[in-house]
Amino acid sequence: MFDAIAPRYEMLNHVMTLGLDRRWRRRAVNDLRLPAASLVLDVAAGTGDFTRELARQGHRPVASDLSFGMLHAGHGMDERVQADATSLPFRSGAFDGVTCGYALRNVADLQGTFDEMSRVVRPGGRVSLLEVAEPAGGLFRALFRLWFRHVVPLIGAIFSDRRAYAYLPRSTAYLPGAETIVAMMNQAGFCAVNHRLLTGGLSQQFVATRAR
Ligand SMILES: C[S@@+](CC[C@H](N)C(=O)[O-])C[C@H]1O[C@@H](n2cnc3c(N)ncnc32)[C@H](O)[C@@H]1O
Repeated sequence: MFDAIAPRYEMLNHVMTLGLDRRWRRRAVNDLRLPAASLVLDVAAGTGDFTRELARQGHRPVASDLSFGMLHAGHGMDERVQADATSLPFRSGAFDGVTCGYALRNVADLQGTFDEMSRVVRPGGRVSLLEVAEPAGGLFRALFRLWFRHVVPLIGAIFSDRRAYAYLPRSTAYLPGAETIVAMMNQAGFCAVNHRLLTGGLSQQFVATRAR
């Protein structure tokens, strides 16, 4: 599915989030609080939006993704590796940090993914993850639902792949609640897991430290 939507994925992302995803990525990389030139693995990097933000903020990023099409359509990813997030081809403790943008709901084994992220980060290293969310209530939530469930699939159908963009709102059903995700990250070996909502709950972020 991601191979099919790769060519227009980024452009549609910016349209569908009204450009807010750039701000969320900037903040997520900043919240790693790692020194410049840190080696950071961007898991499920897609076409490299997050990877390039890592480079912009002075880090040395490595992009990995299961979809060859996404990696191929991307740019600004000097180091890119086709790999399943649940079985990363890197030695333990190889990275200072890990990022992952909007992919948690796509992996079949979320605990296995957190376990692998934890394995490849050095003790004391950092992880910063972004995922979609939904505003808690009121008019904002109603407008969000209209946009995410009806407008986004329509834009996707016109400019890309109808089936893929119909799946997008449905895929949130595969995402556990924040408390469950925090518990899974703790179980994987992360501590001080911090969950926060961004822009009134349009996006969510998990930041944590790899336990020593
Ligand atoms: C919604 S895109 C997000 C891409 C990018 N991180 C971003 O922020 O724009 C989800 C990505 O997860 C990747 N993905 C899905 N399952 C995966 C897995 N098991 N291992 C690695 N990548 C996976 C897809 O190929 C796709 O590129």
